[in-house]
Amino acid sequence: MAIRDIKKYPDEILRKKAEPVESFTAELDKLIEDMIETMYFASGIGLAAPQVAESKRLIVIDTSWENNGNPSQIVLINPEIVECHGSIESEEGCLSIPNYRATLKRNASLLVKGYDRQMRPIELECEGLLARVIQHEIDHLNGILFLDHLSLIKRELLKKRYLKSLSK
Ligand code: NI
Repeated sequence: MAIRDIKKYPDEILRKKAEPVESFTAELDKLIEDMIETMYFASGIGLAAPQVAESKRLIVIDTSWENNGNPSQIVLINPEIVECHGSIESEEGCLSIPNYRATLKRNASLLVKGYDRQMRPIELECEGLLARVIQHEIDHLNGILFLDHLSLIKRELLKKRYLKSLSK
């Protein structure tokens, strides 16, 4: 296992549409292991492969470990949202835009399809924080960041503050 470097906005790789995973290999398994390790190390609840400079449609999530200390990871390969319902506003952040959070609207519940770590097809019905994190991470696979969901004024303000903090 290895902790990987998390790419930070405005790194170009975060804007690229990631490629579907075609086959399960030892290399892919290593990447999954590293992503899980990196997510925990960074105290995150989700991580998408492009954030560790791998342009692949792969995400890892664990929304519960911070609360109860028990790891329960979800690995989703080539995830797709097939159904979404409702809408809910909540605050979120991103490991690629550290120290900045914003409130934005997401769908309240989802039906997601994809493949698990053994490349078996899975279907997941979810709501609440898990639904939010899945939408955030799938956005990463499409080169979208949470700030893209903000109004123009809020987005520009956040960008300006964030970029200024980088130059300090
Ligand atoms: Ni993120």
